[in-house]
Formats: sequence, structure tokens, C-alpha cells
Amino acid sequence: MSSLTFAKQALKNWKDVGAIAPSSPRLGARMAEVAEVWRAQRVVELGPGTGALTAPILDALPHDSQYLGLELNDHFVQDLRSRHPGHHFENAAAQEFDFTSLWPDDATFDVVISGLPWTSFPDSLQTDILDHVLPRLRPGGRFATFAYWGFHHLPSGRRFRNLLHSRLVGVESSRILWGNLPPAFIYVGRVSE
Ligand SMILES: C[S@@+](CC[C@H](N)C(=O)[O-])C[C@H]1O[C@@H](n2cnc3c(N)ncnc32)[C@H](O)[C@@H]1O
Repeated sequence: MSSLTFAKQALKNWKDVGAIAPSSPRLGARMAEVAEVWRAQRVVELGPGTGALTAPILDALPHDSQYLGLELNDHFVQDLRSRHPGHHFENAAAQEFDFTSLWPDDATFDVVISGLPWTSFPDSLQTDILDHVLPRLRPGGRFATFAYWGFHHLPSGRRFRNLLHSRLVGVESSRILWGNLPPAFIYVGRVSE
């Protein structure tokens, strides 16, 4: 899917898409690396969009592992399903999806990778999403997300950073990837063991 299609969807649904272009392949590869997708059995991606992070995640994922993408935009979901047959994409809101509809009640994830536009979200939605997803991340499991450089100084960006520190341990920020549009960095943290 082209960057033009992404931009069209962004104009139609700015609050949900919250970006002017898909993430760069380099950002995707770096996120899969810091989240340690290579050794995960179950990976959940939030907001895969046009799949800029999905391709590097699926490349790094061990063959016998499971992937689930939760994406709000039906147009993106249809495209992701046709480009990645054999992998599971749900047209669903990350804060509402019933994981037991797919996996056993006590199933946990090893990794959650987010491409969500956190700084566009109100405080309540940031909290609702993390509180819905993180309890299902196994102890020691990794959560990785990107933030646009500069936006992290906005009140919503600072709030999100504080929220991450309140829910995870060992939260680190990567160096800035200047080649991304806009430049971005990665937050990665773990659920305490
Ligand atoms: C900034 S775009 C990122 C797309 C892609 N991950 C990338 O990095 O290029 C954010 C994506 O999150 C999706 N999204 C927004 N809110 C969501 C929610 N509550 N649950 C699931 N997906 C959501 C949007 O539809 C959009 O595709």
C-alpha cells in the first residue's frame, strides 16, 4: 500500500492515524530488535496501519510463533490480510479486543509492539489501552512503542511517558532515528517479574 493511501486515510481519520507517513523500514527493524521478537512465542501489534512495522516483526518472528494485529481502520485491515495471509489481523480497538476469543483465558504475550499515535490520544484512552493490554504481557515480557521527536515534550507526550514508567520497569529511550518522517525514537520497557 502506498504512502499516498496512508496520507488519504490520515486526512480522513486524523485523530486515529495521527501521522503523515508510515514508519520507515529502519524504525520497524529496530523496534523488532529491541522488543526481542526473535525469541517470542506470541506477539501482539497495536495499530499496524499499512504494515510498516508488521513486515519486520513477521521477518523476525520464529516460525512456530503467533502474531495478532489489532487495527481500527477496516481499509488497512483488508490490505494487511491480503498481504500477510496466514497471520491474524482483527478490525478492533486495542482497548476493547477480547483476547479470549482467540487464545485460552490464561494465555500471555511475550511482546507487544505499538504503532499507536499516543500523543493524539486523551489521557483516558492512553490509560485504557495500556491497562487492557499490559496485564496480558507475561512477567519480563517487552512493550515497545515509538514517539515522534519533539512531540514527547507536549503535555500528552509527557503524560504518556509517565504512564509508561508507572506500568513498566526498565523503560529506556533509543537514540533518535532522523531518517523517519517525522524523526522518532523508541520506548521499550518490561513487565516486572
Ligand atoms: C501512526 S499510525 C501507524 C501505522 C503503522 N504502525 C506505522 O508505524 O506506520 C497509527 C495506526 O493506529 C491505528 N489505531 C488508532 N487507534 C487505534 C486503536 N484504539 N486500536 C487499534 N488501532 C488503532 C490507526 O488506524 C493507524 O493505522
